[in-house]
Amino acid sequence: MESDMSRLEVTETFHGVIFPGYLHNQESLQHAVTFSFQDTDILIVSYPKSGTTWMQQMVTLISNRGDPHVSQTVPNWARTPWLEHHYSADLLQTLIGPRIITTHLFHHMLGHALQGSKTKVIYVSRNPKDTVVSFYHFHKLANFLPDGGSFEEFLNQFLEGTVHFGSWFDHFKGWTSQLGAMTNLLHVTYEEMSKDLHGAIKKVSSFLQCPLVEEEVNSCVRHCNFSSMKENNMINYTLIPHEIMDHSKGFFMRRGEVGDWRNMFTEEMNQQFDKVLQEKLKGCSIAFVWEVEEEEIDEHH
Ligand code: A3P
Repeated sequence: MESDMSRLEVTETFHGVIFPGYLHNQESLQHAVTFSFQDTDILIVSYPKSGTTWMQQMVTLISNRGDPHVSQTVPNWARTPWLEHHYSADLLQTLIGPRIITTHLFHHMLGHALQGSKTKVIYVSRNPKDTVVSFYHFHKLANFLPDGGSFEEFLNQFLEGTVHFGSWFDHFKGWTSQLGAMTNLLHVTYEEMSKDLHGAIKKVSSFLQCPLVEEEVNSCVRHCNFSSMKENNMINYTLIPHEIMDHSKGFFMRRGEVGDWRNMFTEEMNQQFDKVLQEKLKGCSIAFVWEVEEEEIDEHH
């Protein structure tokens, strides 16, 4: 990643959403929304802290039939670059297909560029309560994001959709509303990866038309579980200088758990969150898909 420290405090507003200027500029965002996708491209889409890095690792491993070499020698931002980051334009031209591309952009920004292409799109979502907790902790570590303030303040901004990268609700609604319309769109949740990593790998590999034999699936599982990813420098962001990500303030691979929100939310926060969730997801094509895990957690209590 190119280092321009002067942009750590800069924000770029694009289609009403704020993006960190350290990683984005108007030109790179414009480049992303007018990008020429190839039919062989694989696009990983997510709201930040939903399991993006996990899916980058999974797709890399699947594409290499479980062989971990690439995932242990090439940083994730070089092998599965973010479409909208300023350093990606040249990189994307040199990647030999099938390219694996990542994006945090909204459907309303990318829909046009994707229209008519056979690009395989994988949308990763996570319980927004766990997402906001993970995002809050990430703000402490990432110097290209502002100080998150107190958790209560951050939660309010998240619910209002005024945080960097925009509204989680609009992001989720926008992409999942395409589930019927786009035949080449797969929705995978963080919770299903957590509950059944083996099953999730098989689901993704079959969507990518890259069926794997059992031994290959097992190798993917070994190299994309939390502990092996936490130790892998190509994916745990420890290669990034501490002026940009300060690892004395926390780890990128933090806890990797389902239901961690319970450690941060008060009952009042939970009620407020549920209220907003209900209002904002009204008319959404899919219901609260993470419910299953929640019930299971309850059963353990
Ligand atoms: P936590 O902060 O809750 O630990 P993203 O890649 O979208 O930024 O998401 C980061 C979140 O995914 C972090 O969540 C991180 O720990 C978690 N994560 C990454 N790889 C994981 C894995 N193999 N298993 C479980 N969680 C993982």
